[in-house]
Formats: sequence, structure tokens, C-alpha cells
Amino acid sequence: MPTRVFDDRDLGLVREVLQSGHLSILDGGQLTPRFQKAFAEAHGAKHGVAMNCAMSVLHASVISAGAGAGDEVICDPVCVFGAMATMYANAIPVFVDVNPVTWNMDPDAIEARITERTKALIVTHVCGLPAEIDRIVEVAHRHGIVVIEDCAHALLTRYKGKCVGTWGDIGSFSFQASKQMGLGDGGMALTDNDELAGKLNLHAGAPTFMSVAYGMHYNYRMSEPVAAIGIAQLERLPGYIEGLRRAAAMLDAAVADCEFIDLQRGPAEAEHSFHLWGATFHGERIGLPRDDFARVLEEEQVGIGMGYTNMPAYRHPLIAERLGAGRGCPLDCPLYEGTGNQYPDGLCPKVEALFPNIILGYPFQPDDAVAAQADRLRRAVERLA
Ligand SMILES: Cc1ncc(COP(=O)(O)O)c(C=O)c1O
Repeated sequence: MPTRVFDDRDLGLVREVLQSGHLSILDGGQLTPRFQKAFAEAHGAKHGVAMNCAMSVLHASVISAGAGAGDEVICDPVCVFGAMATMYANAIPVFVDVNPVTWNMDPDAIEARITERTKALIVTHVCGLPAEIDRIVEVAHRHGIVVIEDCAHALLTRYKGKCVGTWGDIGSFSFQASKQMGLGDGGMALTDNDELAGKLNLHAGAPTFMSVAYGMHYNYRMSEPVAAIGIAQLERLPGYIEGLRRAAAMLDAAVADCEFIDLQRGPAEAEHSFHLWGATFHGERIGLPRDDFARVLEEEQVGIGMGYTNMPAYRHPLIAERLGAGRGCPLDCPLYEGTGNQYPDGLCPKVEALFPNIILGYPFQPDDAVAAQADRLRRAVERLA
């Protein structure tokens, strides 16, 4: 462990869907509502709204928060997904720097980026490590800003004893194949807010046949067979996360005595669930160039890389080269005047310094594979120590 298990329980629920003849929530399918309820209950939320992927959930969340053309959405700059969802809605992503140890949004850096245009804030719990979500929510709500938690990496992950995704106004979860609960594809919004649940539902159950359009709602429904597998996999999720923690402990042990590597960790109250195992390279402490370490990782075939995407979200061509929706939208939208280049080098100096030194492993592998990888990592580190 961890390896994904699909067995008679999953097959039985899929059979239930097929035998019912109702393959969609639109024609009376019951598995999607069951999955929504079970996922919401497991996380301690009032409402669950299932969709076809987490990008859909993020997009529907940004719209439901009321952000559109000319509005700003505060995003973190490690993962690009929040910024992309913002741009789907024709709104402008505004980036806030991170804590270089946790890689998560720095609550102290938020206030300076808030303007009268700010409608929402999207915070990612990066790699499965909870951000300081209580402080982030406090700042945002003081300014009337809707908080969307991107929990794609952080299912059943607690901060101060309460699951992430239930601290802000909406939590967004991914069931994409590589995630802690892979269903091929899928996503879920959680919220305690009845009004937001209603708005999100318009994108998750909107009729497509003989229907009258009263609003611009997207067809982001989850299909019933996916929901069926979701119900079965949710029962295994605590076991998967336990397995990820065991795998991460093996990788931790491999670098335990290494003075040029710091683990991506927060305080004990932020319970890491390790969708990814992260660490930061600090070769400057012993005069070790980054490229030497990257070369040894390759020579030892560790299977752990450096740099992640090698660029903060605002350096992705989508944003830096204005490739978005074309014709200057949304970043040069006429409704968004007088802003010039919003994304200069040095915008978020901590994340820019961090990126080349990010070390990332993928712990969702069988125990023996992780143990072998940990051995290779230990060997690489010992060659350079
Ligand atoms: C942090 C984060 N947010 C959102 C997404 C989008 O998820 P999905 O593939 O379900 O749309 C991903 C997917 O990799 C992600 O890592």
C-alpha cells in the first residue's frame, strides 16, 4: 500500500446504476446524490455538489462568488489552476506570495493585494499540506471576499481538527486519476452556505434537453457510474491516506540527516496528507550547486524531480504572453483599465526563489516501490553530503 483497490464493492455499485437504467442524475439517478451526501458528511460539510472535474468546480465557484469581467481574484502562485479558473470567468488573477517553508499562501501578504475589485480568493493546500486557512479566511471575510479552498491535493485533510475545504465558503476537490481518490475524472464542491450550494448546483444539474435558458450555466454534471465508484472509493480513502503517510515517512527517513534538504511541513495542527511529497533544496548551506544535485538524482534514477513546473503561475505563457482568451481578454480587458503589466519579475520573490529548488516525489506507489525509491534517494544524498 498504497495501491488503488477496485473490487466487488465498486462493481456492485456500478451494476446498481446499470440495472437501474438511470445513468445520469438528470433522468433520476440516485448515486450522485448519495455520493454527494457521503463525501460532504465525511468532511463535515452541509452540501456536496459533484461535477465532472475540479476545474469545473473551481470555475463554477468563481462564478458563484460573483466574479466576472473586470473583477479580481486573489490566487496563490505555486499551482496555476486557481488562476486559470479565474480567467475562465474573464476575471483577473492577482497573486500573493507564499511561505517558503510550507509553499502555501502567506496570510500576511494578502491585505496589500486587496482592492475594491477583489471578489474572491482561491487558496491551494499545496501537496496536501493545509495552508493557514483560519488566518486567510479572517482577512478575506473582513473585506467581504469569498474564500474558495482548492483541496485537489488534500482530501480528508485536517487543520486544527477540521477538514480543509470546510473553513472557507467553498471547498473544491479533485478525483482526477492521480489524486488521493482517483475516479478517472471528477470533482466535488463542498459548502455550508445554502445560497452558494444553489448557485453551484445550477452548473451540476442544468438540463440540456428542451430546456429554457435563464442563465449562463455550464454542463458540469458528474455521471452516475463515476458517482458509484466514488461511493466505494470514499470508504477506502482513510486507508489510502494512511498509506500515503507511511510512504512519506520512508522518504523523510532517506533525507533525515541531510543538511541541504528541508521538508515541506507546517505545524503539527496542519496534518499533511501527501498527495505529493515535497522538500526544498538548500545547497547554499554547503556550497552545493543545484544542478549537481539534480544530476545525481538522475544518475541514481531516483524518480524524484526538481523544479515542478519551473515557473510561478504568472510565468505560464497563458498569463505571461497573454494567450488567454485572445484579443487581450481577460488580462487587458477594457473593463480593467490602467493596470499596465500586472505580472513583472519579482512580483512574488519568495515563490520565484523557491521554484528551482522544489523537490517533488509521488508517494501513491506500492510500499516496496517507495522503499526502493527511498533507498535510491538516500544513496543520492549520501554521495553529496
Ligand atoms: C491544485 C489543483 N487544482 C485543480 C486541479 C484540477 O483538477 P481536475 O483535473 O480534476 O480538473 C488540479 C489537477 O491536477 C490540481 O492539482
